[in-house]
Amino acid sequence: MPAPLKKPIVVVTRKLPDAVETRMCELFDTRLNVDDRPFSQAQLVEAVKMADVLVPTVTDRIDRSVLTQAGPRLRLIANFGTGVDNVDLDTARNRGILVTNTPGVLTEDTADMTMALILAVPRRLAEGAAYMRDPATKWSGWSPTWMLGHRIYGKRLGIIGMGRIGRAVARRAKAFGLQIHYYNRRRLPEDVEAEFEATFWESLDQMLTRVDIVSVNCPHTPGTYHLLSARRLKLLKPSAYIVNTARGEIIDENELARLLETGAIAGAGLDVFEHEPAVNPRLLASDRVVALPHMSSATLEGRIDMGEKVIINIKAYADGHAPPDRVHAAML
Ligand code: 8YV
Repeated sequence: MPAPLKKPIVVVTRKLPDAVETRMCELFDTRLNVDDRPFSQAQLVEAVKMADVLVPTVTDRIDRSVLTQAGPRLRLIANFGTGVDNVDLDTARNRGILVTNTPGVLTEDTADMTMALILAVPRRLAEGAAYMRDPATKWSGWSPTWMLGHRIYGKRLGIIGMGRIGRAVARRAKAFGLQIHYYNRRRLPEDVEAEFEATFWESLDQMLTRVDIVSVNCPHTPGTYHLLSARRLKLLKPSAYIVNTARGEIIDENELARLLETGAIAGAGLDVFEHEPAVNPRLLASDRVVALPHMSSATLEGRIDMGEKVIINIKAYADGHAPPDRVHAAML
């Protein structure tokens, strides 16, 4: 059991919603980032030297070099986010630093945006909206053969990663008449499969050859880096679409861009990118791509809920209890 900390020094690396910051300042000796400028690696090192608790986000790389320079006070990294691929978990564990995340509270928002992309890409929603706004074009009226996309109803959706978000996507997609297929490390219990009428594939390769839309919903870990490798991407049908609201690193982005350019894949809905904030210009140039700036969980409600989770984790730790959302590398 950790020894209680009276008023821990908490360094928050990004601007959080006002309500969250106010509460954090009431409870802890909180150092805010009011300008919201992402920390450099040097600023992160400064932060871990002085803090009891660091609250980073996906934009901070808490790597080995940062962690090995941490001061003796640093005991908790309370990540503002569910994915923890921004933190070197092994080094943190070796140095006795706990890591927590914010699971559950952004499931529905992320699934909503995933579903929005599943609808938007085959139905060319972004193209149609851009056309209407473009001052250079003048809509001449309806035509039976213009702006044709592809039907979603009745198609096969292959979900990679059937955790909370994957299941929330399946629930929505089923209501839209999609047939649910999934690839997961573990097969789901029978009753959950029955709820979605879902087909489990033990082989990702086999699932990829058969589905019409792929949705990536697994965490990014060393095991899922480039899970959709150049070889696997080539297994997709030329009529297939890919939606990724998980992490860019799970897809070989260069190869994806190439396959989209040559028409070997029909389209992609991407909320995340391999080298954020850089985005492969070839993806942005393609009419087949709907690109979003990592905003799947971006609702005010979601961000407040995430902040509350962070506060609960810090408070529990500071009071000498085990924080509820502790992450172990082995869980991922
Ligand atoms: C968050 C996310 O906005 O929580 C996650 O894992 O990908 C996002 O939706 C971001 O990571 C906050 O750090």
